[in-house]
Amino acid sequence: MKEKIENLLEEVKAFNADNLEQLEAFRIKYLSKKGIVTALFADFRNVAPEQRKEMGQLMNGLKTAVQDRIVSLKEGLEKQVDDNTEKPDLTLPSAAPLGSRHPLSIVRNDIIDIFSRIGFTVSEGPEIEDDFHNFSALNFPADHPARDMQDTFFIEKDPDIALRTHTSSVQVRVMQNTAPPIRTISPGRVFRNEAISARAHCIFHQVEGLYVDTDVSFVDLKQTLYYFAKELFGENTKIRFRPSYFPFTEPSAEMDISCNICGGKGCNICKYSGWVEILGCGMVDPNVLESCGIDNKKYTGFAFGMGIERITMLKYQINDLRLFFENDVRFLEQFKSSM
Ligand code: PHE
Repeated sequence: MKEKIENLLEEVKAFNADNLEQLEAFRIKYLSKKGIVTALFADFRNVAPEQRKEMGQLMNGLKTAVQDRIVSLKEGLEKQVDDNTEKPDLTLPSAAPLGSRHPLSIVRNDIIDIFSRIGFTVSEGPEIEDDFHNFSALNFPADHPARDMQDTFFIEKDPDIALRTHTSSVQVRVMQNTAPPIRTISPGRVFRNEAISARAHCIFHQVEGLYVDTDVSFVDLKQTLYYFAKELFGENTKIRFRPSYFPFTEPSAEMDISCNICGGKGCNICKYSGWVEILGCGMVDPNVLESCGIDNKKYTGFAFGMGIERITMLKYQINDLRLFFENDVRFLEQFKSSM
């Protein structure tokens, strides 16, 4: 037995492997459950007591020799693999360009930030809506031409299911589910069947706002939007309101800000008027409150809605809305510093 072990030891020391598979076969041959070393250890009980010490040492020596051989060969082979495959050096600084946020996301986040500071929470809702949430609850009478204001993509007729044309639909859901006071903004994607041009797209993004409480007046609306405009476009921004019409607000208005490019002096962005339109707003029509289960004798509210594309175009002086949807890196790269 002694001789056998010594021969094995020679064999182990002389062993070489060309690849990891051969090394694994070597390991199995010696150390696996049915391997040579394991068998020797199993035989140990047959060794005469006076030889046990010596044999034990020899066997342990063999086992260690096998293990050492495996470790040292493995190191060499792995290094070889590394050298051959030219692995990338993960510690090098990246050559790939850093990503940047999409300008629409930057502005949406800015808008959310501003309104969060004065107590508005963010609410979201489904992009596929039923007639009630997109139209009826918002005081659009059935077959009233007001529905034509927003050319709708219908998915099903009777009952009507459509892509939402505005995120006012989310606010209907909020009013149905929450008792006043309500102060919320609803950012989201909306859809209208419009021809795509530099100024319009069939998909765009809105932020709509809603405030419902006791004694809410037009003064609150004005002050809130004034604060918003100054925060977003700068301290010197002025606002003005022009009467308008929306089925869900009464009275309704459109709000202009003094042109952020020329400061009101007149330029081609504001078409030399000094003013640019940025949003629609008004006092929530009492019918809308009633449709949503809110006591319109006790509560009043204001609402507003704006297109994020339009605001972004004004803020960054972008003259073609289609750029937002093309995702050309040469365009997107320019917003890196505005994260
Ligand atoms: N929902 C309107 C739109 O999409 C915007 C708006 C909201 C107007 C709230 C007034 C009040 O055009």
